[in-house]
Amino acid sequence: MKMVKVGLVGLGTVGGGFYDISKKRKEFQITKILNRSERKYVTHYVPDEMIASDLHDLIERVDIVVEAVGGIDFPNKVISQALISGKDVVTANKALIADKGDELLKLSEKMGRKLLFGASVGGGMPALLNLQYHSLGKVTRVYGILNATSNFVLSKMSQGMDMSRAVKIAQEEGYAEQDPSDDISGMDATRKLAIICAYITGKLPNLKGIFVNQLQINQEQISYVESMEMVVKPIAYMKIKSNGIELWVGPAALSKNSKMAKTNGTENCLIIEGESGINSLTGVGAGRNPTAFSVMADVISIAKGNATLPYFKKDETLNILEPAFKEIKGVKIIDT
Ligand SMILES: NC(=O)c1ccc[n+]([C@@H]2O[C@H](COP(=O)([O-])OP(=O)(O)OC[C@H]3O[C@@H](n4cnc5c(N)ncnc54)[C@H](OP(=O)(O)O)[C@@H]3O)[C@@H](O)[C@H]2O)c1
Repeated sequence: MKMVKVGLVGLGTVGGGFYDISKKRKEFQITKILNRSERKYVTHYVPDEMIASDLHDLIERVDIVVEAVGGIDFPNKVISQALISGKDVVTANKALIADKGDELLKLSEKMGRKLLFGASVGGGMPALLNLQYHSLGKVTRVYGILNATSNFVLSKMSQGMDMSRAVKIAQEEGYAEQDPSDDISGMDATRKLAIICAYITGKLPNLKGIFVNQLQINQEQISYVESMEMVVKPIAYMKIKSNGIELWVGPAALSKNSKMAKTNGTENCLIIEGESGINSLTGVGAGRNPTAFSVMADVISIAKGNATLPYFKKDETLNILEPAFKEIKGVKIIDT
């Protein structure tokens, strides 16, 4: 059987993890790596013959390209060039998929190649894989905790800590990146919600149309919510209605007995409601190994010929609705 060759671009948290856990796999072999700084080749003991001289060199010598760089412009170039060169692609890049996923999927379809991005939502919680299954039937509502940093920050705030201190501790403990603004602003969860919506409805919403409340909440609000037997959690919310789709991200109050209320640390949680019942998913939502295994699952499904190409189109006319939640002390309440 022909060995499937994988080229890895980006040897950081996700790429480095993927490289380290892939060494003994039989379904594929990483044969070429490209990283910006040379230092990481040394840290990961990458043999000289595996180091690609440039992107062209990497793409030409492999069957599947894994993009683990992050950002938009360079990853877009990596993925487009790989697809145009007839290679399959796996990425964990939610920012790129939420922005240009439709164009890239169109290109992959045109080239007859696969483009998978399971790691872009939920890390080690296989959200997209499960959504593929549940959306065989009608899905009515999907909501959950998709950003561990903001969940960590809210947990600390409920213990009396102020937000800036909580963010600092999240960084020290490795939950938050050096620049946590995408987490705190809700942008990270908004991108994931857009991908979830696209996966279920086939329509990728314009990110600017999604209703977002930043993580701006004070101790008084949190204490009041808790006195009413509820907790505040960072929620990404989607409800399909006959006249449009409710899409909302922000801190919300929910029953302290709900599954979501017990989601802490790096854990993510997703509730999927519809014809297949009320289903919940949990798992480690980010970090080196959980995300790397999710990348690996996509690589293996391509290597084994089991992968199906997702399909969605950007829909600027999608009627995005603001959910009419009840509120308590200015905090929206999610009916769980
Ligand atoms: N970290 C997570 O938990 C997680 C979870 C889900 C999804 N993701 C997604 O996974 C992707 C990667 O995230 P990460 O956390 O692994 O980022 P990271 O730790 O910053 O790693 C990025 C790597 O890409 C390299 N790089 C940057 N520009 C490059 C270029 N032009 N050419 C070649 N290499 C380049 C960097 O090289 P240097 O050595 O020079 O820095 C670094 O090693 C992002 O799209 C992110 O959203 C991450």
